[in-house]
Amino acid sequence: MDLVIRNATLPDGRRDIDIGIADGRIAALEPRLAARGAREIDAAGDLVSTPFVDAHFHMDAVLSYGLPRVNCSGTLLEGIALWGELKPTLTQDALVERALRYCDWAVARGLLAIRSHVDVCDDRLLAVEALLEVKRRVAPYLDLQLVAFPQDGLLRSPTAFDNLKRAIDMGVDVVGGIPHFERTMAQGAESVRLLCEFAAERGLRVDMHCDESDDPLSRHIETLAHETLRLGLQGRVAGSHLTSMHSMDNYYVSKLLPLIAESGVAAIANPLINITLQGRHDTYPKRRGMTRVPELMAAGVDVAFGHDCVLDPWYGMGSGDMLEVAHMGLHVAQMTGLEAIEACFDAITATPARILGLEGYGLAPGCHADLVILDAGSPVEAIRLRAARRLVLRRGRVVAEAPAAASRLYLDGRPDGVDFRMLQGNKPENPGAP
Ligand code: FE2
Repeated sequence: MDLVIRNATLPDGRRDIDIGIADGRIAALEPRLAARGAREIDAAGDLVSTPFVDAHFHMDAVLSYGLPRVNCSGTLLEGIALWGELKPTLTQDALVERALRYCDWAVARGLLAIRSHVDVCDDRLLAVEALLEVKRRVAPYLDLQLVAFPQDGLLRSPTAFDNLKRAIDMGVDVVGGIPHFERTMAQGAESVRLLCEFAAERGLRVDMHCDESDDPLSRHIETLAHETLRLGLQGRVAGSHLTSMHSMDNYYVSKLLPLIAESGVAAIANPLINITLQGRHDTYPKRRGMTRVPELMAAGVDVAFGHDCVLDPWYGMGSGDMLEVAHMGLHVAQMTGLEAIEACFDAITATPARILGLEGYGLAPGCHADLVILDAGSPVEAIRLRAARRLVLRRGRVVAEAPAAASRLYLDGRPDGVDFRMLQGNKPENPGAP
């Protein structure tokens, strides 16, 4: 073995597991592995996970906060207007530099796969060229999947569809859309049909910004599910945001959930951004605005959490930490049972890996040796503490390292330091959701 990690705790609760790595892949995963490694790492009971996966991001806008000004109202629509002001001033070098810097942050956070939308409504396709360059450059350490995103509307922006097709021809992976931003509900539905037909023709995946509003009658997810079934795209389509579902009538949703499940359309919620941008027109009570995550999961729909934005016209926070995303997600969705919290961990690891179609992702012999050792004893503790990423491995090679969280104390009669992990022997058995 090139490397053996000893005494790992796995996300499914297995303890004292040794992981043998050879030629960049997991060669063995079992208790008390007899084989020796050229290098050995003692995980000492720490959680060893597959890397984090962000199913929804905008890398063309990342780290542009304050350019040319900040979003005063904090709304989605001012963010789109602000991005429109910024777009003509973008340069390829600046786009590449900001994206590479963010990918450095991502690796340090154990985030090794990102699906990023890229705006195709600028006829120069400057951002497309820049992010394709970034995709090539980060490939050794991060999987960057790109979505051709007609930010200004496929039908509303006269050149958007041609640009989207050009972007796909240049190497962008996935077909995007934004039906709720078209001029009318009917044009939104038309855009979904056109984009799904194009994806079916080309054999591509689809990921649309869909119903990102508080309007209970914004129902493009219904059209997306229908087109997915009609065109046989099951398992290749995702609806991002779906925030209008938060405001919909419950009777209608009781019909919609089985339709989404039947269509095999995945749902991608973006808790940090949804809780920030939605409900802005409300006084009180004020809607949370995130889609119905536990209900979608219970219906059998794949649900992932995305970061969506970091320091851009829509959101002035964030640092590439998917544990922060899951932390917010479980609060907004009130998913506080242990099984529910574990489902939130899956929503930033295995589930988005499936949605992106990542090859070789997993904790089993034969999978890529892409691993994160966390300063935590379980997925629940990892989310609670937004735990330090002690080691991040890509293809069996250490690509990032961080110290465990530690504080010194100077108190009479008390210990000289604290760690924030749960006491051994004080770990509750999983009683299921409350
Ligand atoms: Fe988005």
